[in-house]
Amino acid sequence: MRKRGRLRGGSTCGAEAMGIKINDITQGDCVKLLEGLDEPIADLIFADPPFNIGYKYDVYEDRKAYDEYHAWTERWMRACVERALKRTGSMWVAIGDEYAAEVKLIGDKLGLHLRNWVIWHYTFGQNTRKKFARSHAHLFYWVRDPAAFTFNDKAVRVFSDRQREYHDRRASRAGKIPDDSWWEFPRVCGTFDERVQFHPCQMPESVLSRIIRASSSCGDVVFDPFAGSGTTLAAAKRLGRDWAGTELSAEYVRGARRRLQEVEPLAATGAPAWTEPHVRELQWLYAEAGVRTDLLYEHPHLLESFTDMFNWRLANAGVDDRYGPQDVWDRLETLRKEARLARIRVHAAEPTTGPPRTLREPLFATIRAER
Ligand SMILES: C[S@@+](CC[C@H](N)C(=O)[O-])C[C@H]1O[C@@H](n2cnc3c(N)ncnc32)[C@H](O)[C@@H]1O
Repeated sequence: MRKRGRLRGGSTCGAEAMGIKINDITQGDCVKLLEGLDEPIADLIFADPPFNIGYKYDVYEDRKAYDEYHAWTERWMRACVERALKRTGSMWVAIGDEYAAEVKLIGDKLGLHLRNWVIWHYTFGQNTRKKFARSHAHLFYWVRDPAAFTFNDKAVRVFSDRQREYHDRRASRAGKIPDDSWWEFPRVCGTFDERVQFHPCQMPESVLSRIIRASSSCGDVVFDPFAGSGTTLAAAKRLGRDWAGTELSAEYVRGARRRLQEVEPLAATGAPAWTEPHVRELQWLYAEAGVRTDLLYEHPHLLESFTDMFNWRLANAGVDDRYGPQDVWDRLETLRKEARLARIRVHAAEPTTGPPRTLREPLFATIRAER
């Protein structure tokens, strides 16, 4: 869905916007750099600030007094909104429980329009001994103008419950927009291939990809004031956006720049090419869509629907050619045999009443469905 009145971004490609470089990471304090801008640069801002919970960064001290952190949060959010964000832009902020309420109120004060308060439920959280383990973060999603913003629904669609649970042919082939609680994305653990070694807290690229696909278009500028290991910028580059970041630590800037150099955009090749970015996008869709390969095989209409979702994602990143269902099926089979597909998790108990048992798969309330 493209709302009316949207201005095209991307005109700043390769340019330098008053000290914040486009398609680069600028080392320094985001507030000062943002306050130096005299025109907005960003179609989408994603910010994952330090949460003020005592994390060990190399130069930033992550344990401030409440008033100091609160005032600083308002300052950087104001600088993002008033100096960097275009009139048609969207802003997302990740934050922990400790300051989620404050961030929500600051967003209100700045005149932003809240579209979703997403809960990212992650797996592989830390164990606790005396209370329930924390396994979520808050993702606030605002727009400046509720009548003019980008929301690319097709680029984020997944199977509906009707498709996933009952394989019902009458369900919309286009699937559905995901719910506002996201349970498909694990934290980036130390053992994951994706993990960089130079930064202590790295967001998964799959989460950022969903946000960027939904809230920006090819050629738009995606800005991250707290670039860290460069996750937002890597996802933006992969998806054919222009990108810009600021980061306090010179060491993190060096590491993130190295990471960015390795990133190949999805549109560097057409389809069917099955380059690493195309394969990765397929793995992510598989994890998010929530239907196992055996069911895709048994129900060709589900495979067709899955193929549409995959092609929409690639089109959103500037790939003009399309994959066919057979291409997609063959690659999924290869990945399955190589154990490179995520386990599909059933995240809620099955209803005790409802359609006949023969229509239900799996039959009983279950935590994990594995092949
Ligand atoms: C939570 S981490 C961001 C992680 C990032 N989302 C990723 O996936 O790698 C926060 C980052 O903000 C940086 N930082 C702290 N204060 C800053 C400031 N005033 N300006 C720019 N960066 C800052 C820290 O050095 C740290 O790398």
